[in-house]
Amino acid sequence: MGKHEPYHLHREGFATSLGVLAATLGSAVGLGNIWKFPYLTGQNGGAAFVLLYLVCVFFIGLPVMISEFIIGRRAKANCVTAFQKLEPNRPWYLTGVIGVISAFLIMFFYTDVAGWVYSYIFKSASGAFASIHPSETAKVFNSFISSPYAPLFWQWVVLVVISVIIIAGVTKGIERMTKTLLPILFVLLVICDIRALTLPGAAKGVAYLFKPDLTKITGAVVLSALGLAFFKLSVGMGCMTTYGSYIGNNENMPRNAIRVVLADTFVSILAGLAIFPTVFAFGFKPDAGASLLFITIPAVFKAMPGGQIFMVLFFVLSAIAATGAMISLLEVPVAYLSEQHNWSRPAATVLSALVMGVIGILATLSTSVLSKTLVLGKTFFDLFDFVSSNICLPLGGIFICLFVGWVLGRRVVLDEASNHGRLNNEAFLHIYLVVVRYVAPVAILIVLLNALGIFKF
Ligand code: TRP
Repeated sequence: MGKHEPYHLHREGFATSLGVLAATLGSAVGLGNIWKFPYLTGQNGGAAFVLLYLVCVFFIGLPVMISEFIIGRRAKANCVTAFQKLEPNRPWYLTGVIGVISAFLIMFFYTDVAGWVYSYIFKSASGAFASIHPSETAKVFNSFISSPYAPLFWQWVVLVVISVIIIAGVTKGIERMTKTLLPILFVLLVICDIRALTLPGAAKGVAYLFKPDLTKITGAVVLSALGLAFFKLSVGMGCMTTYGSYIGNNENMPRNAIRVVLADTFVSILAGLAIFPTVFAFGFKPDAGASLLFITIPAVFKAMPGGQIFMVLFFVLSAIAATGAMISLLEVPVAYLSEQHNWSRPAATVLSALVMGVIGILATLSTSVLSKTLVLGKTFFDLFDFVSSNICLPLGGIFICLFVGWVLGRRVVLDEASNHGRLNNEAFLHIYLVVVRYVAPVAILIVLLNALGIFKF
């Protein structure tokens, strides 16, 4: 890509349906599946949380994803410009602005966790787990994150890698790579699952994941499940709007959204099935928090023949999945700055990455020197995570639904999402319209107000 060419000259779009699926799935699948889903499930008490999460994914996340595709393809522009193009007279574009802010908030901590994954490639390859018992894996992790230097180093490595990928204009390349490698990650997860499920005491882990105890549900738990649904599917901030703008006019957008949601949810469940049986088999705590993945996965690999090689491969593939997801996140401010403010793509990338790296230091040091520095009762890491997933994305989701349901309106939606009637999906779209006009915005609002204590239900 030429240095000073405006980005929109390159608005090429995806060539095939498989390309659309691979790119959107590449954004959705990431640390959310293997790290955040198990960790939040463990912290929020297990199966009841999973159930709530699934409800949020299908009744809120899926409709928001379809809505973002509609906005993006209709406008053919980044997430801020798209709203301006479709409704120039009112400030709906602020939805896109919240989206750009969310991209930064997420990246502040996502790059930190991605750095942990990168470093685990080398830790597992160099035999850091070779001479310890499976139940001692927490020691390795804790000594790693309680020092400020190594995590900072890895966070910056991550930022350099994704910046180079974006500046070199090879994001298509990483998408292709994700497409080829995702199936291998599936297979590795299945291998982990088989070993984990045959460990003594595995049944407890399966019950923990699938036998809901409804007394565990509180307002805060519901909000976490909702926030995770948005985070997981990369919706609520304009990422999928940007991707929607590359979707060709003959593609079946609702079907693509359904496929992404199903495949993504499947990966999360596979990860849960690897992690929770291991938790119970080795006496870890399900509510270990952000460290859960990094404690359990080495343990399960230690308990199988050839485990070290599989473990290296697992972290390589996880790093690639995380990198694909981060590229879709970094692309949001880069597309905005270059399309809307005529910045060159390299300048937009370097500046965005620098801001992410500098403020991201606060998240990274939350596990070491800043672990006692709390804002609103949370470390910086938790604060960035909470504000982005549990506040910004749901708010963005409300506005996206209202925009599609009421501003674009029934006719445009039916026309756009059915490819001018060629798809014969009218019955589905009628239900979808009721959801985006009434059900989703009201439900999100109630969950938000209730959990934040603004209004008790
Ligand atoms: N969905 C990705 C994951 O699970 C993270 C992600 C990528 C994301 N793009 C996003 C989250 C946009 C919210 C919004 O790892």
